[in-house]
Amino acid sequence: MTIFDGGGKVSKPIKIVLAIAALLIVYSFLPLIPFWLMQPAPNTENNQAAVQKLSKNEGTYFSFLVFSDNHAGLIFNDAATLKEIWHMNREDRSRKVPIDFVLSAGDVTLDGKTAHFKAYKKLQKLIKWPLIATIGNHDDRKLFKKYCGSEKLAFSNRNAYFIIADNEGGAPDLEWLEAELKKGKEYDHIFVSMHKPLFDPYQQDWYNVDNAPWAYKLRKLFAEYDVDMVFSGHRHMFKHEEFDGVDYMVTGGGGMLIEIPEADGGYLHYVRVVVNNDYVTYEVRKVSPPLWEYVTYYFWKEAIYWVRDLYGSGYILGRNTKILEPRVSGLNDKEYWFE
Ligand SMILES: [Fe+2]
Ligand SMILES: [Fe+2]
Repeated sequence: MTIFDGGGKVSKPIKIVLAIAALLIVYSFLPLIPFWLMQPAPNTENNQAAVQKLSKNEGTYFSFLVFSDNHAGLIFNDAATLKEIWHMNREDRSRKVPIDFVLSAGDVTLDGKTAHFKAYKKLQKLIKWPLIATIGNHDDRKLFKKYCGSEKLAFSNRNAYFIIADNEGGAPDLEWLEAELKKGKEYDHIFVSMHKPLFDPYQQDWYNVDNAPWAYKLRKLFAEYDVDMVFSGHRHMFKHEEFDGVDYMVTGGGGMLIEIPEADGGYLHYVRVVVNNDYVTYEVRKVSPPLWEYVTYYFWKEAIYWVRDLYGSGYILGRNTKILEPRVSGLNDKEYWFE
């Protein structure tokens, strides 16, 4: 195939390929149009109402889906979440296991404005299962209560106990949390959702909780109560860690434009969890961005990291040998961790 024909013009096959590519890009944008026109779910469809819908569930074999950081209210984010929801809604296609609900680990809005919550409520309407939301640091508290309901709740579903904690500002209410963990001991499984993770999912990053005593304490507490899984978001990536037999999942790929390289976990995704009596398994469902978003953002994000990886003079221009002190002092004092 020649790119240019004899007259220096673009050849016909190339024109056809470009036209198809343009059509696919336009097609990938279209789902936003009905989304903009639709009405949001009513405010009565909140966390408490979602929990109510679970009360008649029976049996000990079930599934639920988890996503986080959809940050509704920005065109890029909503387009990506719309695509994720389309995939989520197909999760029961094999008709093997009932899917009980969908859990969001927080940052449901771009920045907590009313318009952002309305966009979130539209997304909620498109999800065919009850949606339970955790509050994130970008979600205005007053509006979260109005649109999503209680930001601190615990409920049982079949043989599992779910605790939705509020740690958008850092440490959660420890007394309440421990009381709920005690109740959870009556069930086969305990799952916790809290927006901010208890470890650094991306170590050379601004989010730094590995040196915070409350996070350390909480890991010990969750181990003591045999928690199965702790879901978080906050960092826009996927990361799984295990401490003392507890699985910690950062699942912040729910729609927000991702800034972390794909190779390090920076990709759009949600998680499917299956509980089979005593056993819990999970799968990460990677979702590619809509084509128009790939060509305008995701391709360039990866390209910039590729260029960054070429950076560095190899010590011709400077030896980079200065040791930098940690910002927090007392890190190696025992009292710092156990006060
Ligand atoms: Fe976020
Ligand atoms: Fe966050």
